[in-house]
Amino acid sequence: MRETNRGKNNTLPAAVSLRRIHKSFSGVEVLHGIDLDIHYGRVTALMGENGAGKSTLMNVLSGVHTDWTGSLLINGEGCRFGSPADAEAAGIAMIHQELNLVPGLSVAGNLFLGREPAGRFGRIDFTAMHRKARDIMDQLRFEPPVTAAVESLPVGQRQLVEIGKALASEAQVILMDEPTSAHSEREIDTLFTVVRQLRARGVAVVYVSHRLEEIYRIADTIAVLRDGRLVHIAETGSLTRADLVQQMIGRPEERFYEHEDARGDEIVLRVSGLSCRHPDVESRTLIRDISFDVRRGEILGIAGLLGSGRTVLLESLFGAAPGFLSGRVELEGELLEIGEPSFLMSKGMALLTEDRQRTGLIPGLSVRENYILAALLMTPSWAPLTTGDEEDRLAAAAEDLSISMADPGQPIVTLSGGNQQKVLLAKWLAIGPRLLLLDEPTRGIDVGARHDIYLLLSRLRRQGVSIIMTSSELDELIAVCDRILVLRDGRTAGVYVRTECTRDGILKAASG
Ligand SMILES: Nc1ncnc2c1ncn2[C@@H]1O[C@H](COP(=O)(O)OP(=O)(O)OP(=O)(O)O)[C@@H](O)[C@H]1O
Ligand SMILES: [Mg+2]
Repeated sequence: MRETNRGKNNTLPAAVSLRRIHKSFSGVEVLHGIDLDIHYGRVTALMGENGAGKSTLMNVLSGVHTDWTGSLLINGEGCRFGSPADAEAAGIAMIHQELNLVPGLSVAGNLFLGREPAGRFGRIDFTAMHRKARDIMDQLRFEPPVTAAVESLPVGQRQLVEIGKALASEAQVILMDEPTSAHSEREIDTLFTVVRQLRARGVAVVYVSHRLEEIYRIADTIAVLRDGRLVHIAETGSLTRADLVQQMIGRPEERFYEHEDARGDEIVLRVSGLSCRHPDVESRTLIRDISFDVRRGEILGIAGLLGSGRTVLLESLFGAAPGFLSGRVELEGELLEIGEPSFLMSKGMALLTEDRQRTGLIPGLSVRENYILAALLMTPSWAPLTTGDEEDRLAAAAEDLSISMADPGQPIVTLSGGNQQKVLLAKWLAIGPRLLLLDEPTRGIDVGARHDIYLLLSRLRRQGVSIIMTSSELDELIAVCDRILVLRDGRTAGVYVRTECTRDGILKAASG
């Protein structure tokens, strides 16, 4: 059943009109005169490759960027915001791709930051604030207490808090920049219920995502940006997937990725009875009694819902888990002393983390420095540091993964989200790993580059690299992995061979 394209006869006025928007960073123009109308009571999808300018455009609209030219009309009236607070006062809220929460504050504190309900004597009415926060977070099926510190939450749950913050602001225009990049099906369903309620209340929603199925489920209008230009706008129902991809990447979609089995006989990793106990609550385990093995050249997928233990499992293998570990892990026949990432790196293990802001990249450093970091850590301290060589390797990796950047010396935070992700992947490949642990490797990656990453994984495993990867997208796991291990509440709910599994079977196992 179609869920989209209500209100084809679009009678509601434009909430926001953007006219001839230009925006440059240090003299390089990245938005070249954008015209776009955003309507009340509709979901407008903003689509485009990594680096196309989607986040930049939303940052113009939400007062993050102030030095742009052109005009911005809200309800027909010219506006210019000096800050995000100005935009919020005008009823525009943004859910940031790279998350914009105050780590030391609680969930409720973040939701009502700057607009805390006042009680007697002008003090904050915490009871009211917690109750309101609970109501909002319940809509999003967010389980942790609203008094929990945001920094203690994994990235998927922090995304829910970001969404909650936009709801709490009661904005009339909500900009969502990849709100679900760390979410799986159930969380997406929940979010979409909320988005539909917002739309029914007349809120204008702008939605950015690299997952095309999401767009086809939720968007009324699709606007496509390419290299900083608006190249196409259409009703969702009148734009086929193939045309959409063609508009986005400027060429037809790559042929479907073909799986090939490159597994050897040798067992590279053997895990038995791996558990991770909660650091504070003795009776709770984050993952419990997990056993599996991985062969040379195999890709093992890990599926599960938000909070099922996917990330904890990878972190446990890499010795970076948030709790107490027990169990056995053998790498190429050698029993590992689990718990020391740099030791495991020297054994050829690498972990691409899901949370690029907190554990992935070093924001103050350049693209080049972030790229060589892992390889540097592995250079023995007596060895001379060579430069020059990594410049060529970075250039080759940039080519391989189509990383779009102006200059390897630019701060990594000035790359678009998807391009940051590709640099992090390249960083781990630079150590020449034998066992790659990838937590959501295609998070925020556009359709074209995603194909490049699949081909890269394929090549790696033909070279004998074994891979364990998580993904919130089941279709991706089924397309890429040899076997899929499904987690539910920290336990193994099943292991499926690629040729014998279906989406539904896995979903059922994951949700119990
Ligand atoms: N603060 C900044 N300084 C310099 N350049 C920047 C900055 N922010 C963004 N850019 C550049 O602007 C261009 C557009 O980036 P933007 O983040 O808008 O892309 P995007 O469409 O959101 O991509 P993605 O899908 O990867 O999130 C990119 O070339 C990016 O490197
Ligand atoms: Mg972006």
